[in-house]
Amino acid sequence: MLYSSCAVLFATAVHAITVSVSGTGGVTSSPLLYGLMFEDINNSGDGGLYAELIKNRGFQGDSLTAASLSPWTAVGGATLTLQSTSPLSSALPQSVNVKGKANTAIGISNPGYWGIEVKPQTYTGSFYVMGSYSGLFTANLQAASGGKVYAQANITSESKKGSWTKHTFTLKPPSAAPDTNNVFSLSFTPTSSSQTLNFNLISLFPPTYNNRPNGMRPDLMNALKDLNPSFLRLPGGNNLEGGSSGNEWKWEKTLGDLTERPGRTGDWGYYNTDGIGIIEYLLWCQDLDVEPVLGVFAGMNLNGDLVPESSLQTYVQDSLNELEFLMGSASTTYGKKRIALGYPEPFPIKYVEVGNEDNLNNGLASYNSYRFAMFHNAIIEKYPDMKIIASTTEWKPQIGNSIGDAHEYNTPDIFASEFHKFDKVTKEHMTLVGEYAAVQANLRTNTSTDWDAPFVDHPWWIGAVSEAIYELGAERNSDRVIGLSYAPLLQNMDSHQWHPDLISFNADTSKTTLSTSYERIKLFSNNRFTAVLPMTSSAAFGPAYYVAGINDDTDMYIFKAAVYNTTSEVPFTLSFPGTTEGRTARLTLLTAPGGAYAMNTFGGPNAVDTNVSTITASGSGFSFSLPQWSIAVLTTGRR
Ligand SMILES: *[C@@H]1O[C@H](CO)[C@@H](O)[C@H](O)[C@H]1NC(C)=O
Ligand SMILES: *[C@@H]1O[C@H](CO)[C@@H](O)[C@H](O)[C@H]1NC(C)=O
Ligand SMILES: *[C@@H]1O[C@H](CO)[C@@H](O)[C@H](O)[C@H]1NC(C)=O
Ligand SMILES: *[C@@H]1O[C@H](CO)[C@@H](O)[C@H](O)[C@H]1NC(C)=O
Ligand SMILES: *[C@@H]1O[C@H](CO)[C@@H](O)[C@H](O)[C@H]1NC(C)=O
Repeated sequence: MLYSSCAVLFATAVHAITVSVSGTGGVTSSPLLYGLMFEDINNSGDGGLYAELIKNRGFQGDSLTAASLSPWTAVGGATLTLQSTSPLSSALPQSVNVKGKANTAIGISNPGYWGIEVKPQTYTGSFYVMGSYSGLFTANLQAASGGKVYAQANITSESKKGSWTKHTFTLKPPSAAPDTNNVFSLSFTPTSSSQTLNFNLISLFPPTYNNRPNGMRPDLMNALKDLNPSFLRLPGGNNLEGGSSGNEWKWEKTLGDLTERPGRTGDWGYYNTDGIGIIEYLLWCQDLDVEPVLGVFAGMNLNGDLVPESSLQTYVQDSLNELEFLMGSASTTYGKKRIALGYPEPFPIKYVEVGNEDNLNNGLASYNSYRFAMFHNAIIEKYPDMKIIASTTEWKPQIGNSIGDAHEYNTPDIFASEFHKFDKVTKEHMTLVGEYAAVQANLRTNTSTDWDAPFVDHPWWIGAVSEAIYELGAERNSDRVIGLSYAPLLQNMDSHQWHPDLISFNADTSKTTLSTSYERIKLFSNNRFTAVLPMTSSAAFGPAYYVAGINDDTDMYIFKAAVYNTTSEVPFTLSFPGTTEGRTARLTLLTAPGGAYAMNTFGGPNAVDTNVSTITASGSGFSFSLPQWSIAVLTTGRR
């Protein structure tokens, strides 16, 4: 006790770190720097970011997942049978046959993705039906138990024997339900017990972000927008690779009307509708005004299955086809296809990433001997300005100006020690940090992530501060580190297998929880440098780490700092060119009163305090102190 209070007394007497920022000679920062990486890991896409409310809307299945009725249940004592005769489309071969008693309302009921939120807003629904029926269909949003109906629509049947007819409807609940324990049901009243109907592609959407049909959940998109991101790495990492040979993500199967999308079993063993297809990904980029970083399958699946060199050309051609689809004119085969789908304007692609983590699963040898070069050379030949990203930093054919992708899941102490990690990245071969996160407590004996040890439930403050130090290290090298994206982005609390994630959610949009790491990224990303400025400092880095820069668009000087584990506040005296007595600066300080291990638990309060204060320069410097476990941004006008 005595010792530690002495330490505090001594520390408060320490001289301020004097930082003097120079007005010239800095390096231009990557405009991409803060971005997003999305992975549809355990329903963060389907029934999550993707606003569809009906789970298993198409009764789909594939070679890895058997088609099933789950989680549908029968209404009115109906008998439900999966049938594959008379398919709605070749992509959706199964449908449900509903059969029951004469003159009784029978049908099917769906609990959504672990619940359905009912609010006074317009829900847009549709379904396909086949069979002779001339009565009404009734669509209900109702409580799962007790039967209270929040909204109802009667839809006049246009159904015919032997062919599929699409019906549409809207539901407008006048008031909200108290919780998300609700179901959607669809029923009809046969006049005889032999009058059966088949249903398929039963869909219900709440309002979506920017009112896109087949769109995204507004609360989650707003949370992403608030991060002020500038790129999106899509369509994920492992999601792109596929678990085993043949199961990789295939862009052509994610196109067009929902009846044309077969969906697929993703890498985490559950079925995905591919409702977020390649076009939806790019509309998402437009909506958030971010640069797409397009991942292409590079011949390695997650289990290590490899496409041999002699067969790889097919996949290389497939990625060229995808680029032609996105960017080609009406005179190209695939460009024409995009235009026919209703997208006359091209979706410009400037960055292509070849594969995902090809250094893992024994992939590096083939990646270095033929896979990377085949993709790189073919894409550059057709698109000479394309920036090609290797999926690892260990790629050996460093041809052209290829960029590496560093992924890092680690402990806070290690991230905090990596402030200088990016100093050695070269101009010729820059780096993207396509995935990173502090995932587990500091381990006594292990110097890197122990994959057998538990990961934290949510990003905790010690991790967020350590990530800030790592990110500042990237930022001061941001002429060569082109971007950083935390991963994974989203976590459905009702079905997830990886944590921590940046944002947690479930069916109840009022519970959406932004993590401590989210707060940190938001602060840094909303205070961008256009250039980093050189500075001199009276102290070595650690436990305080910092970087200074300029934003030419806002005409501001910016100073960003993070303070890790220390016994006392760290005092600073900071000056920029032209800082004179009486000038003011704005200091935004993030701290966690709950300490290093505080986290934003699901639906709980924000553990991070944001304190904005105005500091007035005395002499030629701004004086302020930063406590341990803090993250700060100071801004001041240039003139
Ligand atoms: C739907 O039809 C049923 C039976 O005709 C009727 O009782 C109910 O009020 C109707 N619901 C709406 C919303 O019109
Ligand atoms: C360290 O990590 C390795 C790799 O995950 C693991 O096999 C080992 O058991 C860990 N050691 C300790 C002492 O935790
Ligand atoms: C991931 O999703 C699959 C399929 O929905 C589920 O079986 C599994 O339990 C999920 N993992 C976790 C840990 O929630
Ligand atoms: C901070 O450092 C002290 C001294 O090295 C150590 O005992 C303590 O565990 C550290 N705190 C955290 C949260 O890592
Ligand atoms: C914010 O910081 C200022 C300056 O350090 C301090 O006086 C004030 O009490 C802080 N406010 C809150 C709400 O923490």
